[in-house]
Amino acid sequence: MLTPYERIGEEKLIELVDTFYDFVKDDVNLAPLFPDDMGETKRKQTQFLTQYFGGPSLYTNEHGHPMLRARHLPHPITPKLATAWLKCMEKAMDVIDFPLDIREECFARLALTARHMVNTPEEGD
Ligand code: HEM
Repeated sequence: MLTPYERIGEEKLIELVDTFYDFVKDDVNLAPLFPDDMGETKRKQTQFLTQYFGGPSLYTNEHGHPMLRARHLPHPITPKLATAWLKCMEKAMDVIDFPLDIREECFARLALTARHMVNTPEEGD
């Protein structure tokens, strides 16, 4: 059985991350959280998603244990921002023709991770 990483392939994964952050940059709520230069953000996310989808442990090798929730604590992530993040991912998957047979499974997993990053209640709640 191929891993999702092998099904997607390195080239498409890079394309996914590039396209995803283009949508993030265009999202009025998400954009202010990110640096102007997304080069390093993209590089880390590509390393992370490589291992998340079953490829080599590129992120851990360079940065140590992901501890994703802890690394996101400096950023106030509301449920609405998690939804916006996932919408960008969904649109990026559309644009790059993410392999259909594993798309639902991969997106569902990303959705769980995104919900796990929520660390701030919705404004007004
Ligand atoms: C880093 C926002 C969900 C993976 C970051 C950064 C922000 C952010 C602002 C710092 C960027 C920088 O300074 O370069 C968010 C928001 C999310 C979210 C608003 C909504 C739920 C996720 C998810 C994943 C993820 C679901 C993984 C599937 C990462 C990684 C980094 C990162 C790997 C780099 C961490 C590092 O500094 O080593 N995120 N994120 N994020 N995010 Fe997220």
